[in-house]
Amino acid sequence: MRIDRRTSATVATAALVGLALAACSGGGSGDGGTGDGGASGGGAEVEGGPWWAAGAGLGARDALVGVFEEQHPDVEFINGAVAGGAGSAAKDLLQSRLQAQDPPDTFQAHAGAELQDYIDAAQIEDVSSLYDEFGLTDVFPADLVDRLKSDDGAIYSIPSNIHRANVVWANPTVLEANGVDPAATYADLDAWMADLDKLQAAGVTPLSVATTWTQVNLLETVLLADLGAEGYNGLWDGSTDWEGAEVTAALEDFEKLMSYTNTDRDGLDWPEATQMVIDGNAAFNVMGDWAVAAFEEQGKTLGTDFTAFPVPGTDGVFDFLADSFTLPVGAPHPDGAKAWLETVGSLEGQVAFNKAKGSIPARTDADPAEFSEYQQTAIESFGNDTIVSSLAHGAAAPVATLNAISDATSKFTSGGSDLATYQSELAAATAQG
Ligand code: GAL
Repeated sequence: MRIDRRTSATVATAALVGLALAACSGGGSGDGGTGDGGASGGGAEVEGGPWWAAGAGLGARDALVGVFEEQHPDVEFINGAVAGGAGSAAKDLLQSRLQAQDPPDTFQAHAGAELQDYIDAAQIEDVSSLYDEFGLTDVFPADLVDRLKSDDGAIYSIPSNIHRANVVWANPTVLEANGVDPAATYADLDAWMADLDKLQAAGVTPLSVATTWTQVNLLETVLLADLGAEGYNGLWDGSTDWEGAEVTAALEDFEKLMSYTNTDRDGLDWPEATQMVIDGNAAFNVMGDWAVAAFEEQGKTLGTDFTAFPVPGTDGVFDFLADSFTLPVGAPHPDGAKAWLETVGSLEGQVAFNKAKGSIPARTDADPAEFSEYQQTAIESFGNDTIVSSLAHGAAAPVATLNAISDATSKFTSGGSDLATYQSELAAATAQG
């Protein structure tokens, strides 16, 4: 399937935000907060960390806050920001706060395995009962609810959205000018790489990429393309051998794809890599679908100024991730946090947020017609495709595993290890999880 429809939505962003929600009226008790007054839920302050602090991510966050203010006018939202794509810097800051027993009232985290370390350390609450209270169980797809469940069967966060990580973004003008058919479809990575060779020979940067987490995003899509959904899933449940020949072949493809990329990659975050395609300085970029907002924010039209399609070899597979919000153990203002979580899960909140973010609602009762044409393709794919969990965005593996994979990847792509060493480091990284 080719995704080449027009769209009018906005973009995502790469930043971290500290968020605080301070109640400014109401009659709650025991808040211990800022002294602004008690929230109706008893909290004077809710503080957390969405990491969207610029571009469409910021717009999306503001849209969600707008709904929150309407739904909970007695609670004031306050925020601060820390920049860094995919929440990298936010997670470090959060870790030190949690270790210092100074939890925020809510924080953003990817749904799925990323939550496991917080669960194991008893740092976040089971919010399953809020699913019933807010009526979420019936409006989220059943298999999403299953995917949100931890090993103990409980759910520890409420998702605000669903993103897709296995998307190629292309500049058709660059392709055409360099003898590549912008309407070409590629059955697999080999077919795609034949065109990347042509672009390389023409002196164009065939594929843009940025710092380590974006390289891991690329890696996961290569593993998915070469191993298939089942083989890829097996990487996380132990049924696929990380030391096997199939993984070696996939890593060879990853190495080859990296050879088509810009050499200044390690100094860039995703917006700059995507911008290279927007500006015509690179032909392709593999990035999650927050990228759609970067194009649209700059007045670019899907199908004309840019195209989007699943990473070759992954058509029919939706590489899933979800941003979600938690209720930390010991949150100073749990009722304020619950008010926030209610808005995050609400239809109005999800529609407002996702229209601006490029992602799609986790809820099934949102009207697809409210969303851009790209998003409508994502809604359709999410409903029909095989769903797998993203590695780079916390759905597939715990934080420690992802960190070890990221370190090994950075070492490999910066010339610090050969492929055999890289493969054994990846195997060791996943063995420890
Ligand atoms: C993802 C996150 C998205 C967006 C992206 C780029 O991990 O889920 O919402 O923030 O990183 O920063």
